[in-house]
Amino acid sequence: MRILFLGDVVGEAGLLALEKGLSSLKKQVRADFVIVNGENASYGSGLFEKDYQRILASGADCVTLGNHYHGKPDIDYWIDEASCLVRPRNIFDYERGQGTLYFEGAPFPIAVTNILGTAFMKDDVLDPVQCFEEAYQEYPDAVHIVDYHAESTSEKKCFAYLCKGKATVVVGTHTHVKSDDCQIIDHELAFMTDLGLCGDAPGIIGFDPKVTLDKVRFGKRIPFLPGNSGHYVLQGCVVEIDDDQRRPLSIEGVNKKVEGGQI
Ligand SMILES: [Fe+2]
Repeated sequence: MRILFLGDVVGEAGLLALEKGLSSLKKQVRADFVIVNGENASYGSGLFEKDYQRILASGADCVTLGNHYHGKPDIDYWIDEASCLVRPRNIFDYERGQGTLYFEGAPFPIAVTNILGTAFMKDDVLDPVQCFEEAYQEYPDAVHIVDYHAESTSEKKCFAYLCKGKATVVVGTHTHVKSDDCQIIDHELAFMTDLGLCGDAPGIIGFDPKVTLDKVRFGKRIPFLPGNSGHYVLQGCVVEIDDDQRRPLSIEGVNKKVEGGQI
């Protein structure tokens, strides 16, 4: 089984990149199942239901979130009905939605869990490893895939080692910078520190350079604005898992250019 996992969708550019490029990318990498991180899809922070539906319509089977899971508070009204959406499992005081989703199907069932990291993140969270252990106990027959949404690169790999033998795939999201370290750890776990992003290629982590520089360099109190140059990328990885042994056979980075025309 081949699983395509794409990094954070940043704004309209990311959504257009999926709509224009995901179908051909799926064929190119022969993906059987597609997971996309959508936590920055709606104007750079959070997810509106219409944008969740656009990600699914573009070809995703599952959408994960991250620290901006509540960036659009009206998610409260639809998250319980969103059968393909995974929010962070280890957050406090948020009972809506699912932190792990179980997908039945041949050749094996898949459980997708979204976990928030601890270092350099603003949210107070429950212990990531313990939360994953609970997901593993909940779905012992599944192949476990984790989107570890975190700033710290070393923390992501620590988590991978701690969950090796139970998780089959651990990939990082959140930095929007695609890492070049795809690897299989001890024949048991496919790992990549960060998938990168789906969105504007020349942007600063997907955001408009001018607006970002006005904020960072000159301290202007303005919201980040997703980039819109018309030159997009779809970044992430594709993992092949042995149908019988359920072990990862390979993991390769994905970096597909998509030309879109300016928004
Ligand atoms: Fe994030």
